[in-house]
Amino acid sequence: MYLIDTHAHLNDEQFAQDLDNVVARAVDTGVERIVVCGYDVPSSEQAVKIASRFNGVFATVGVHPHDAKNYDEQAHQRLVELSREDKVLAIGEIGLDFHYDLSPREDQFKVFDAQISLAWELGLPIVVHSRESNPEVMQVLSRHAGNIRGCVIHCFSGDEGLAREVLDAGFYIGIDGPITYKASQKLRRVVAMCPLDRLLIETDCPYLTPVPYRGKRNEPAYVKFIAEEIARIKEITIEELAEATSNNARIFFGGIL
Ligand code: NI
Repeated sequence: MYLIDTHAHLNDEQFAQDLDNVVARAVDTGVERIVVCGYDVPSSEQAVKIASRFNGVFATVGVHPHDAKNYDEQAHQRLVELSREDKVLAIGEIGLDFHYDLSPREDQFKVFDAQISLAWELGLPIVVHSRESNPEVMQVLSRHAGNIRGCVIHCFSGDEGLAREVLDAGFYIGIDGPITYKASQKLRRVVAMCPLDRLLIETDCPYLTPVPYRGKRNEPAYVKFIAEEIARIKEITIEELAEATSNNARIFFGGIL
């Protein structure tokens, strides 16, 4: 079995003490590839650094909407530099977050827009975060239609209507630990209707830990539990699910994985 965790924050300080063991446990579980996602400039630098240390680990670089207020010309230039590093596969995570509103919405829109354009210039796909901002995220993305190399709505939490919109736009749907939670019936319906060739699996660790480790720190090895639940919903084997989603990740990230 060959699994890919397409969204992990091994650059979070919660992994500072035991990163080698975390990566080793992932490999032992069949997680052959891990994509470490940046969320501001320092964490993007850290993602690139971690990717350079481990064979199967790759990076994305980008500024999360939480940090949009700090995005200036210098940050932009640093992202451009980082994006040219060997193992950088995408720009992300970027997007809008109206739940926390940690940056003014005006800044969030501006910075999301700038990074979508940057990704297109660089020929890279984008990893998109959307929280309580789904209509606005889809509006921004539709303005860039035709100028997006690939897009995943990471940690998808919308309904079937939104999933339909995302799929019609040609984007991928990222599924995380909440799919294993009892209350996630809406998300199960999304997974049931989503074609197998448009699903990506991700942990978003150290957050959103799947059952049976819910409440503890999440890590890439646990992407297995997400794969198991999706396989159950799709009525296929976990091996079939692993093959399909790993193939999707390879296509999405441009075959480098
Ligand atoms: Ni994330």
